[in-house]
This record gives sequence, C-alpha cells and structure tokens, in this order.
Amino acid sequence: MEYAISDENPSLSRRQLLNFLTGAAIAATTGSALYPIAKFFVPPREVAEGGGILAKDKLGNPIPASQILAAPPGTRALIAGLAGEPTYLTVQMNGSLAPTGVADNCTHLGCTFPWNPNDQQFQCPCHGSRYDSDGRVVRGPAPLPLKLVRVAVKDDAIWIYPWNETDPRTGEPPWWV
Ligand code: FES
Repeated sequence: MEYAISDENPSLSRRQLLNFLTGAAIAATTGSALYPIAKFFVPPREVAEGGGILAKDKLGNPIPASQILAAPPGTRALIAGLAGEPTYLTVQMNGSLAPTGVADNCTHLGCTFPWNPNDQQFQCPCHGSRYDSDGRVVRGPAPLPLKLVRVAVKDDAIWIYPWNETDPRTGEPPWWV
C-alpha cells in the first residue's frame, strides 16, 4: 500500500507543523534583530553588587566610558561619583580608564579643586593645599590624602565602587571608612 502526502490538500497536522516552523523562524529572526535595539534603549541598572554606582554627569545622566576616553591620555575627567561626590577619573597612557579615582573634596575644609596639568597636581584654591596625581598630600594644610574609589568599565558604562581595602599610598586602612 502506498502512502502519499497530497500537496493540494495537506493534512491538518502538516499545516500546523509548517505554521509552527514559520512562526518560530519569524520570532527568532525578529527577536535577534530587536535585542540590540531594546538593549540600547533600556538603561543599565544603576546600582551594582558591592555598592557600585554608575558614573554620571552634572545633569545626572550616565557618562559612557567612550566619551571620557575620547580625551587625550593624562586627562582628568570630573564625574558625579558615590553619593554624588565629584570624582576625578584618569585617562591612562594606554587609552583606558585608571582603575582608581580620587574624590574632588579637599581633606582640609572640603573645597573642590582643579587638576593642574602643568604641575601634575590637584591644587586647592581655598588655602593652597596640593596633592599629587594619586591624591597624596604634597603641601598642606590638608592633613590627609584624597579619598579613593575603584573604577570599572563594563559595556561602555563606568562603575564607581567604594574603596574599603588598604590605602596603597599609606599602607594603612582607609581613613574614610
Ligand atoms: S579647603 Fe583645600 S586647602 Fe583648605
């Protein structure tokens, strides 16, 4: 006995199978096409494990790493870090972000200060304190080095984490913890 599937009158199960396969193919194609678009428009989470937060600009918008890394090596970029504290990030000579940032908050009386690229120092305009590029005190009256944060880049987002471990500049526990 010969079994044949008629092309003119396909069985219901064959039609269902074809419909299912067609639908699955369309869903897979559409899903893979829409995923990058959806990922672009959905903002990343703003708090990470370990107390990390996204670096933001002064308007509160996340700053992509590529925006800061477009600046020349040696640039100190100011961002809003932990608890909104102004924080300097450094573009390294290899074009990546330094894994450490320093708070723009003078340890004398809390003034903010600019980076002086000629002297390679942070120089506080309030009472003349100076810090080296790592935030060590070069000249008082500031009593303590600048607060450190950890910096990590993931998918072009900049994450700022509290620094709770030993301060590598002093070999002691961080004074700000
Ligand atoms: S607040 Fe910076 S030196 Fe006084």
